[in-house]
Amino acid sequence: MKIAVIHDAPVPPPTARELLIELMKRGASSLYLRLPKLSSYASSNDLKTLYGRSFKDDLDGAIVRGLGVVSSAEILFKRVSTLKQLELMGKTVVNPPDSILLARDKYRASQILALSGIPIPETIITEDIFIVPSLVRDWGKAVMKPLMGSMGYGSTLVTDPDVAFIIAKTWQSYGQPLLIQKYTRKYDRDLRIFVVGNEVLGGIYRYAPLHTWKTNVAQGGKVSKAYLTSELKELALKATSVLGLNYSGVDVGETDEGYVVYEVNTMPNWQGFTYGTGVSPAGKIAELIIRMLRK
Ligand SMILES: Nc1ncnc2c1ncn2[C@@H]1O[C@H](COP(=O)(O)OP(=O)(O)O)[C@@H](O)[C@H]1O
Ligand SMILES: [Mg+2]
Repeated sequence: MKIAVIHDAPVPPPTARELLIELMKRGASSLYLRLPKLSSYASSNDLKTLYGRSFKDDLDGAIVRGLGVVSSAEILFKRVSTLKQLELMGKTVVNPPDSILLARDKYRASQILALSGIPIPETIITEDIFIVPSLVRDWGKAVMKPLMGSMGYGSTLVTDPDVAFIIAKTWQSYGQPLLIQKYTRKYDRDLRIFVVGNEVLGGIYRYAPLHTWKTNVAQGGKVSKAYLTSELKELALKATSVLGLNYSGVDVGETDEGYVVYEVNTMPNWQGFTYGTGVSPAGKIAELIIRMLRK
């Protein structure tokens, strides 16, 4: 059984390395592939994948750990369709490329979560910068987010309608739509819950550093183990399954009205989670793909 771990970095990052080892421990042969080096070939009735200049069709499955810096919509299409090609050629891809694309688009994901009965913060996507100031006035506090961001980079907390307008105008001049959410958190913390298959591996609280608001570990967030109620577990499982994901890291906020899901991460890092819980998801993810391949 040959399983690739896919990421864009020149050398495998720590979570990819862990996965490569956990796959090998379970008897699979594992290899690291860089997404920018993967090419796809199509002709009548034939699809193939290339790595560098050689055909690479001997894989049984792949675990996707990073799409890399996506500099344009076209690069995003290329990378996702290259992953999709593996799936079309009968290989098991974790997470499924269609679901990665879905969840990566924060508004598209919000639509699906909302319609599935999962609580989310009030959210607007727009190209109309003139509606932004009144939104911020109405909500008092709002978060402006990159449509495809991660690790907290670029998300901006705004309370001043004029500042929000200037940000909106600047983003628009760079061809970016505006994703704006009501700021909903009751505390300077949120929850990250890790799901693999049908199992909730656990959760952590992520605390924002003093005088800041972002809780991402990449932004200096500190973590501690969280006790998960059955409500939280069900929320995380449902958010993962409605987006069609095999595993995920679900970001949950606590508000006066209850929990809200901020985001469902399709390639979550787990250093913070492991630090807080003592659990590494790598072995579980390796087991999951091997189980899927044996079916
Ligand atoms: N609507 C919101 N209200 C309050 N805090 C939020 C809201 N949305 C996100 N956050 C916080 O912003 C940070 C980044 O959020 P997230 O939406 O998950 O983006 P990223 O993909 O960059 O992690 C996290 O600390 C999260 O708790
Ligand atoms: Mg997040």
